[in-house]
Amino acid sequence: MHILLTGGAGYIGSHACVVLLEAGHDVVVVDNFSNSSPVALERVKQITGKSVVQYPVDLTDRQALRNVFEVHPIDAVMHFAGLKAVDESVNRPLHYYWNNVTGSVVLLETMAEYGVRSIVFSSSATVYGATEQVPTDETCPPSPTNPYGRSKWMVETILADLFASDPRWHIGILRYFNPVGAHESGLIGEDPNGVPNNLVPYIAQVAVGKREWLRVWGNDYPTPDGTGIRDFIHVMDLVEGHLSALETLLEKPACLVYNLGTGRGTSVLEMVAAFEKASERPIPYRILDRRPGDIAVSTADPTRANRELGWHARRDVFDMCRDTWRWQRQNPDGYGRSGR
Ligand code: NAD
Ligand code: WQD
Repeated sequence: MHILLTGGAGYIGSHACVVLLEAGHDVVVVDNFSNSSPVALERVKQITGKSVVQYPVDLTDRQALRNVFEVHPIDAVMHFAGLKAVDESVNRPLHYYWNNVTGSVVLLETMAEYGVRSIVFSSSATVYGATEQVPTDETCPPSPTNPYGRSKWMVETILADLFASDPRWHIGILRYFNPVGAHESGLIGEDPNGVPNNLVPYIAQVAVGKREWLRVWGNDYPTPDGTGIRDFIHVMDLVEGHLSALETLLEKPACLVYNLGTGRGTSVLEMVAAFEKASERPIPYRILDRRPGDIAVSTADPTRANRELGWHARRDVFDMCRDTWRWQRQNPDGYGRSGR
């Protein structure tokens, strides 16, 4: 199949390129490189021996997007493109709604125009907000607490309305928990711009000597060691879940929602210990106050994806740390700043 990946040069998209190419698909990437580097796609070629056709296109540029659909016989879309920084979304809500919501609407309109009605959308566990229902299954009512999360929930709602209006669509909404890790080659991985917001990239930068110590945001949560607990999922498990979702979706028209997580929780301090073991380096840390907006525990109930997609996360926290460390050690400066 010919699969269009929006945001295909980004962290998760680049790993999806590898899995899709290795499964024999043709991959076309559309990315405005606002948070990624074309180098990632060169690395994908190095890993797979196969090229990705790429277009430096912004999703809100309708004509540029049309030109891509004009040239390639696209069968399905994986829609990764989006802005994802919670703090930034609070300060620049219109930018987030324009990029994430308008970009998605233009994409869906263009797909409809070209008769392409299969899409897998990157949503987030963040749509659940501060739910008490942990582990969380897909029946939990969404209640996002920031513009980023609301942009994801809006796109989910738009997709559901689209399916209600035209039941020929094949729609998969995937709610990711906490993606971490890297391809086992160490050639591609997460390359945050500036100071990492997320735990594992920050720990990796401490391990490689780029940052002195980790700021642990609070140790007074109602958890066994007092630090926050998350459901970390290896990015390769996550992208394998996309392939399973696509295969299931193509069987019949539907609008389906799946959690992608492991169902297992790991605390901040447990993650620090696992990274120390994987990297054989100490990770100094200091306990600070809680980070505003953080919740104590977030874990997935992944039963629906396990049952209906036949997909299970296979990799554990040690695998996540080992692969992150390999990527970080081999690429202390990520892909380099030249591509940004
Ligand atoms: P990323 O920033 O690495 O990748 C997103 C890609 O989309 C980047 O390459 C960026 O340049 C591109 N992009 C953004 N806006 C665009 C636009 N208007 N037109 C074209 N390209 C555009 O992020 P990621 O971690 O790979 O996340 C992929 C998707 O998964 C995002 O939609 C994100 O919201 C979602 N998600 C990520 C996480 C996570 O923790 N990484 C968790 C849940 C959901
Ligand atoms: C995990 C734990 C922190 C950094 C965020 C987004 C979410 C999703 C994934 C896209 C928490 C603690 C962190 C640090 C720390 N993205 N921490 N020191 O907050 O669960 O989710 O990324 O959809 O929308 O909100 O992930 O990795 O930032 O934090 O102590 O330097 O690590 O307090 O307990 P989070 P995270």
